[in-house]
Parts: sequence; C-alpha cells; structure tokens
Amino acid sequence: MKDMTHSADAATVEEALAADNHQGIVDSEGATALAMQNTLLTPRFYTTDFDEMDAIDVSPVRKDWDTLIDQMKSDPNKGHFKKNEDWDHVDWDGMEPKLKREFIDFLVSSCTAEFSGCVLYKEMKRRGNNEDIVTLFQLMARDEARHAGFINDALREAGIAVNLGFLTQKKKYTYFRPKFIYYATYLSEKIGYARYITIYRHLEANPELRFHPIFKWFREWCNDEFSHGEAFALLMKTDPKLTSGVNVLWIKFFLTAVYSTMYVRDHQRPAFHAALGVDPDWYAHEVFTKTSTISKQVFPITLDIDHPRWQPGLVALQRANADLDRAKKAGNPIKRLTASMRAAAAFVGLLTIPAIKHQVPASTRLEPAY
Ligand SMILES: [Fe+2]
Ligand SMILES: [Fe+2]
Repeated sequence: MKDMTHSADAATVEEALAADNHQGIVDSEGATALAMQNTLLTPRFYTTDFDEMDAIDVSPVRKDWDTLIDQMKSDPNKGHFKKNEDWDHVDWDGMEPKLKREFIDFLVSSCTAEFSGCVLYKEMKRRGNNEDIVTLFQLMARDEARHAGFINDALREAGIAVNLGFLTQKKKYTYFRPKFIYYATYLSEKIGYARYITIYRHLEANPELRFHPIFKWFREWCNDEFSHGEAFALLMKTDPKLTSGVNVLWIKFFLTAVYSTMYVRDHQRPAFHAALGVDPDWYAHEVFTKTSTISKQVFPITLDIDHPRWQPGLVALQRANADLDRAKKAGNPIKRLTASMRAAAAFVGLLTIPAIKHQVPASTRLEPAY
C-alpha cells in the first residue's frame, strides 16, 4: 500500500452534500483537524484501481445481486435521516467536559468514516462504465452521504461541524489494491452494522442511559451498513481466488487489524462508554462475535477470539498504544520507540493465534440478525 495525495472530483462532494441538503457546512477547525489526521487508528480515505473494479462480472452471483440491488433501490431509509419529534433536546453545555470531548471525538471519527465510504463509492461510480458496478456504488454513496450528513447535523448543535468539502480536497488518500478494498471495506461495513445494532439494543434495554438522541436512529442505520457489506460479499464471491490460497492470510491480517483497531480506539473513550453503561471489553467481544458469525458467509476463517492469548494481546496492544501517545506528547523518542516495538510485538502476537477454519456456503445471502 502507498499513500498518495489525490484530489477527488469536487462534484463528488457537492453532489453528496446536495443529496442531503447539507450545503453551507460550517467549518470548525478543531473537528476538521481531527478528521484530517492520518494515523493507524483514525479513519482514512482510500483510492484504488477503479478500472480493475469496473471489470468485475457479477454473472456468477446474478440472482442474489439483483435481489440486493432491487432492495437498495427501493430505498427503505429514504426519510429516516432527518430530525423529528424523537430528537430530544441535547444539553451540550451541561454535559460533563470529559464525556463531551470523547463523544465529539466519537462523532467526528464516525462522520469521517462514513464520508470516507461516500468519497470512495462516488469516485467508483464516476469512473465506471459497468452498469452493475456503477449502480451499486451510486446507491452506497447515497447512503453514506446521508449518514455523514446526519452526524454533522448532530455536531452542528454542539457548535461544530466537519468540513467535508475541505476533507475531500485535502485529506491524504491511501491507495489499496481492489482486493484489499474488498477485505477492508467488507469488514468495516459489517463491523459498523454490529457496532450500531449492539449499542441500539443495549440502549433499548436501558433507555435511561441514552444521553443523546442519535442512538435512536441506529437500527435503520445499521441495515444500510448490512446491505453494503452484502454487496462486498457478493463481489468477493464472483472470484473464488479472492478468498482462497495466500489471500486467506491477507484476510486474517485484515480481520486482526480491524478488530484490534476498534479495541484500541474504543478504550480511548472511557467516559463515553461509562455514560452508555457499556464495558468496552464486553462491547468488543460482542461486536467481534457478531462480525465473525456474519463473515463466515464469505471468509473461510474467523479469528479465535476466545483463545487464551487473544484478550491479553489486545490489552498489551492498547497499553503500548497509550504509552506511545504519552511519549509522543512528552517528546520522548526513546519511550516512543520502545512503545512502538511493544505495539508491533503485541500485534504480531495476535496475528499468530491460529484461526478457525470454516466451510463457506454456496450462497452468501444473509438477513440482519436482530
Ligand atoms: Fe454508513
Ligand atoms: Fe456503509
């Protein structure tokens, strides 16, 4: 993989924002600067070999493909991402400062991740000629624009917003080969589904802990992410090589990277999780379990998240990462180096845990299990 600076077509952003009537986004320097960060843990923007993706022939999965596209075209969430009477007043000024900081960090990071999907999908739609591919990516870009716009709406009430137009023009784009886009994006869609539905169900059972109305929107929201994941599962099904041979090692790498990134990121927000009444270790295990169950539809392996080395490995990675943060802030190069080496060792430790093998079913077709 390599980093490259690349300016997406400005129309991409304008269309995305216009689609959701979010023109005239106010910038908030802090929020946009946060969204501009490119570290191992922050959401990135991606670019790829669009011609190779455009050449995909979906004939081997035609029946499931057409069913999915018809369902997405019917647009069940068309009117969902709008504030209504369920949107209770939020007392941003009365919010405990640490919680407020972490919640804003959560919203900015979620908004960036949603918009990252929007930019990638819209660019594929713009560059493609293959009717199947162009249609799918247009539909997914539509959804992600709504998601990012809705989060920005929530942020605006706190007096801040991520400048999405600025991000599209200036944020660094990371190049991934198409197969890596499939693994990474499939997983981020499915883990996104699992995260949203787990929080939704938890707050449904404990409504007194719902400190912000946006969580009420998560059920329909997660269905969009579920469908996007289904689309990538079908794309991978068109070519058996993508999920066999040496690529199984890549799948293991991406599973480990996506799971451990989520774990470390969530543990950086203790006040946010405490306010929700969610133990981040429980939450991580729950989300990994849901994601692993789903990903059996297309991946021939899942990670052994109950292995005796799994949880201690995550904790070691998270502690090394916290020490790395402290060393960076203190400007201490020696501590920085040792913390980086500990983080790398912890990640390799997780990667060497034997995976669990599965027989992949002939059809990927799944329904959200909530
Ligand atoms: Fe989304
Ligand atoms: Fe999505």
